[in-house]
Amino acid sequence: MTQTPDAIAILGGTGDQGLGLALRFARAGRPVRIGSRKRTRAEQAAHDVLAKLPDADVVGLENPEAARRAPIVILSVPFEHTAATVKSLKQVLEPEQIVVSMAVPLATAVGDGALRTVGVWQGSAAELVAGLVPDGVRVVSAFQNVAAHRLMDLDHPVDCDVLVSGRPTDRAPVMALCELVPGLRAINGGPLGNARIVEQITALMIGLNARYDVPEGCGVRFTGLPER
Ligand SMILES: NC(=O)c1ccc[n+]([C@@H]2O[C@H](COP(=O)([O-])OP(=O)(O)OC[C@H]3O[C@@H](n4cnc5c(N)ncnc54)[C@H](OP(=O)(O)O)[C@@H]3O)[C@@H](O)[C@H]2O)c1
Repeated sequence: MTQTPDAIAILGGTGDQGLGLALRFARAGRPVRIGSRKRTRAEQAAHDVLAKLPDADVVGLENPEAARRAPIVILSVPFEHTAATVKSLKQVLEPEQIVVSMAVPLATAVGDGALRTVGVWQGSAAELVAGLVPDGVRVVSAFQNVAAHRLMDLDHPVDCDVLVSGRPTDRAPVMALCELVPGLRAINGGPLGNARIVEQITALMIGLNARYDVPEGCGVRFTGLPER
């Protein structure tokens, strides 16, 4: 199956974060391919998007099929299932496709709490993904600091900066995605290795949400940066 040029695939798009992104990108007019381990779950998620956005171009598919159909593939599965999910796509991903890593290695992966992270030998979840994708597939890190509830609330802007890390030519299309969502601002996050810093911030933010009683989730803003 050929890729639709503007499409965005979201694997695990049946969960809160992926569905939130699906809603935002669909509202911006981009074709969205929601992936799931079960096609019926993906179809239900696509149905949920269409209930809010009847004109959306959104389809629910099994993860590999969704990944085949878009030049940008966002991984939206929990950290502990990221490696297995990427490995299951080895025969599917093609050179030049961009895989976006959004995973946060929360200690929930090992039965601990969400206020801490676990160490990742490769440095970050994003670098783990980079080590697993087929040659020529480009990996970019983004969206770890954006809260799912904010994404799903289409009545309000998201109000958050998104640090996008990876090689410059790989970052650019993902930075452009951020600009589709009202309130999101893409920040050049430098090389992929910086993902190890960005991923850690999310655990801090989860603590802030608890201490300040912000169930919708807080966001991050960097001040003093020039307009682009
Ligand atoms: N939630 C947030 O506010 C937030 C914020 C920043 C970053 N993130 C990151 O975004 C990603 C998704 O977060 P989420 O809260 O949406 O996660 P989630 O709801 O816990 O899971 C997302 C999806 O992952 C799939 N999944 C579950 N177990 C799996 C397994 N064993 N193998 C493969 N896929 C499996 C499920 O889809 P199917 O059952 O349909 O396959 C599920 O709907 C995570 O990496 C998280 O760290 C989340």
